[in-house]
Amino acid sequence: MVIDMKLDNIIENTAVKRIGVLTSGGDAPGMNAAIRGAVRAAECLGIDCIGIKHGYAGLLNGDFIQLTQKIVKGITGRGGTMLYTARSKEFMTEAGVKAAADICKHMGIEGLVVIGGDGTFRGALDLSKHGVKVVGIPCTIDNDIGCTSYSIGFDTACNTAVDAVDRLNDTMQSHERCSVVEVMGRKAGHLALDVGVATGATIILVPEVKYDFDKDVIERIRSARLSGRNNFCVIVAEGAESGYQVAERIIEETGIDTRFTMIGHIQRGGSPHVRDRVVGTSMGYNAVALLASGSSARIVAMRGDKYIDLHIEEALGLTKDFDYEMYNTFSALTFLDRDLMK
Ligand code: F6P
Repeated sequence: MVIDMKLDNIIENTAVKRIGVLTSGGDAPGMNAAIRGAVRAAECLGIDCIGIKHGYAGLLNGDFIQLTQKIVKGITGRGGTMLYTARSKEFMTEAGVKAAADICKHMGIEGLVVIGGDGTFRGALDLSKHGVKVVGIPCTIDNDIGCTSYSIGFDTACNTAVDAVDRLNDTMQSHERCSVVEVMGRKAGHLALDVGVATGATIILVPEVKYDFDKDVIERIRSARLSGRNNFCVIVAEGAESGYQVAERIIEETGIDTRFTMIGHIQRGGSPHVRDRVVGTSMGYNAVALLASGSSARIVAMRGDKYIDLHIEEALGLTKDFDYEMYNTFSALTFLDRDLMK
């Protein structure tokens, strides 16, 4: 369902009077924008908003902070999460979930906005079965959350990686070298694909596309060299294979002077770009509007440029498609391989 809720339609009779907000799992640029969007929507509705630090662990430990518009002023453009994040083994147990629900009830926290990934949403679903209303906001630089076309953090992480690869290409061109760059994406190649296309990479290796190293890496570098290129860039998604080993094999089998770079956690930081600020703010608003209207066990997601909401159980059953069409376009453009264009 496309979310089209005007706060003034629900302001008189909100289903919740106090909510909590927490961030969980890997952080991402834009989390603070989502926190601020939620706090401002809550304040518009006269709903008290409690920040829960360190994710579900903080909920179990009573690590709370009163959130007001004043406290969240100016955080939209700040990377990271002002509420910290952590993983909690205790919360993964039935007893932990029950204890967390009891703490919410004791604190008068009737609803929770949980900002994170699938693991965060699974915990929220368990909590909802103990009577706590929950709404999730999808957030990971991997952009691999199945229920949404976009997850907060992805655009900023792509731009950070593209900036790094552009800089690497400058020096690799000067020295006529091959650059192997490993980007993040625990199990997914979305980041690698967009960064590779955006930087005109020679080769992109992702876990979603099987490849023969000799044919798809070595031979392609050799044919690129024969077509006149004197420097090369291989983008490797960390879930595909070790970028370091790819670099070692290229040196061994081609003799080309090669350098390896792992961009790593730089991709998780930095001031969020516009898309992550706007999507974060909008999702924070929509999550509170859903709680205020009495919804629970929902995820705010995107379909194209529209915001929708769906049940957590449905959301967790969905998987994110890899953009094979873009991958094939990249391959065809890079190798002018007429067979690929057929
Ligand atoms: O899930 C986001 C992510 O950045 C992955 O791309 C990466 O593999 C992982 O988190 C790193 O996790 P951690 O920050 O716990 O080392």
